[in-house]
Amino acid sequence: MCGIVGFTGSENAAPIILGGLEKLEYRGYDSAGIAVLNEGKINITKVTGRIAVLNEKTENGALLPGTAAIGHTRWATHGAPTDTNAHPHKSNNGKFAVVHNGIIENYLELKSSLTEKGYYFESETDTEVVVHLLEMYYNGDIKKCVRKVASKLKGSYALGILCTDEPGKIFATKLSSPLIIGIGAGENYFASDVTALVNHTQNVIYLEDGEYAEISPYEIKTFDCTGAEIKKAPSRIDWDIQAAEKGGYEHFMLKEIMEQPRAVKSAITPRIKDEKIVLEDLNLDLSKVRNILITACGSAYYAGCAGKYTIEKLCRIPVQVELASELRYSDPIIDESTLLIVLSQSGETADTIAAMKECSKRGAKTLAIVNVVGSTIAKLADFILYTHAGPEIAVATTKGYTTQLTLLYLFAVYAANNLGKITQDEYKNLINELASIPKLLQNTIDMNSKIGNTAKRYFNTDSMFFIGRNTDYALALEGALKMKEISYIHAESYAAGELKHGTIALISEGTPVIALLCNEDITEKTMSNILEVKSRGARVLAVCFNDNKKITMLANDIISVPRFNSIFSPILEIVPLQLLAYYVAKLNGCDIDKPKNLAKSVTVE
Ligand code: M6R
Repeated sequence: MCGIVGFTGSENAAPIILGGLEKLEYRGYDSAGIAVLNEGKINITKVTGRIAVLNEKTENGALLPGTAAIGHTRWATHGAPTDTNAHPHKSNNGKFAVVHNGIIENYLELKSSLTEKGYYFESETDTEVVVHLLEMYYNGDIKKCVRKVASKLKGSYALGILCTDEPGKIFATKLSSPLIIGIGAGENYFASDVTALVNHTQNVIYLEDGEYAEISPYEIKTFDCTGAEIKKAPSRIDWDIQAAEKGGYEHFMLKEIMEQPRAVKSAITPRIKDEKIVLEDLNLDLSKVRNILITACGSAYYAGCAGKYTIEKLCRIPVQVELASELRYSDPIIDESTLLIVLSQSGETADTIAAMKECSKRGAKTLAIVNVVGSTIAKLADFILYTHAGPEIAVATTKGYTTQLTLLYLFAVYAANNLGKITQDEYKNLINELASIPKLLQNTIDMNSKIGNTAKRYFNTDSMFFIGRNTDYALALEGALKMKEISYIHAESYAAGELKHGTIALISEGTPVIALLCNEDITEKTMSNILEVKSRGARVLAVCFNDNKKITMLANDIISVPRFNSIFSPILEIVPLQLLAYYVAKLNGCDIDKPKNLAKSVTVE
């Protein structure tokens, strides 16, 4: 969702801000803007649409001289995506400009009181109240003024501020929205996430809730919520610029699909030592855990659905998987014996954060499986397992999902051993299987290099079905989501056995049905369901193990994956589904990395 960038240094700031905004494009946005402080005046340019339009309008920043600036990509929430609603917003007296990521929940109340006092509003946004409050409370001391304004705001915010009385400085504060300060040499930055910073610096400071920063080219001063100055230790980002660029691939999504063997290896290798799984960060007495609750949104939720089968099968602990947006309002029955596993690539998903806080309040211990280091979810958790997937830029998650599954598998085998549910031989075998996943993933990718051709028989349709049972059903959920979000084709996932209870009415001549058959125990059952849809005219694409001979008689097309233990096979099986969605979307001319209406990290409820 919205992204913010700030820069102060000795060179012209606008081109740097525009470059940073381009790096944040992946978060999803529909308008953008930049404010530059020059000779005591703030100059603002805003556009509806892409950063390319902002580049054009400002001649790549040349029309906006000045060495301190802030920029913004906006994903519309309050008011349509228009030039006027785009950020930055300026105070009536022209002294302040503000960019904002988050939502000011009490903006209507603040707006009416500011309007009564004579402040004039240009936009329909919640953000504009902030800039007028800055004007109202300013008496020459910006630090005091920002604290006062922050005390009036309810909701979430990462704010970037320029003030004409403070040449060469940019200001930032945050609550429940991420903000990172980048430390350069004679120049400093802030941004919503590290992708906007990595081609300038890998040294960063994570601002915490309620903290405030005054940033000039040679100095970064940070203050806590009481206004006292604090020293914050810098961290080093282990992502480099190559990781955040396309590296010759046509799309980030394809690059990230191809990166999965390496990403999964980074998640597994450091955690297998001397033939044992070592989860150093999980300092928990598992014998006290009576039930496991997994919560997440979107694909992360579907990773949880697949992981449930593996954990239950190996550990014999009941596992419930709940959508975070539902869990947060469901008055859940949770106590100290509940382990809450929270899955999130970004670590910033608003519903997931809220569900996590609710469950913690009720006594659950929280284990976060997250990709982004230092993210809100990582900070809130009792225990963290980082997925080490590297930056994921495409809106449709691929390596984020497979590394989440990897960690759930590692956890399942670790816990099963810890609880004495498996023999030492079984433990060893399972570890060997886990260690073989990166290679098998590579084989799966290689086996499916011709999926582009298969996609030609499936792209020209309004709707398709994904069916499977148990783990294959969990995979069907994720396969259908991938298809929907990037190709805009209506894709329905169904538990194969449920089709005949209603949905089979939608199958007619030529309807594509993607049937998943990598759960050995019940393959035969799904085959019967294939027969049912075929006899009603469906065109069936089967995803199965490469030695499944029977399927050749049934399916119109086959995509195969290497034979593997069914409790781990979803991690292989998802790869052809990702590739199928990718090629179908490409054949339909869709904007694969930035699908319409979607944002990478959903930081609003
Ligand atoms: O960053 P998170 O893993 O918390 O994100 C959760 C979902 O928003 C995300 O998985 C979304 O469904 C993806 N666009 C799916 O590809």
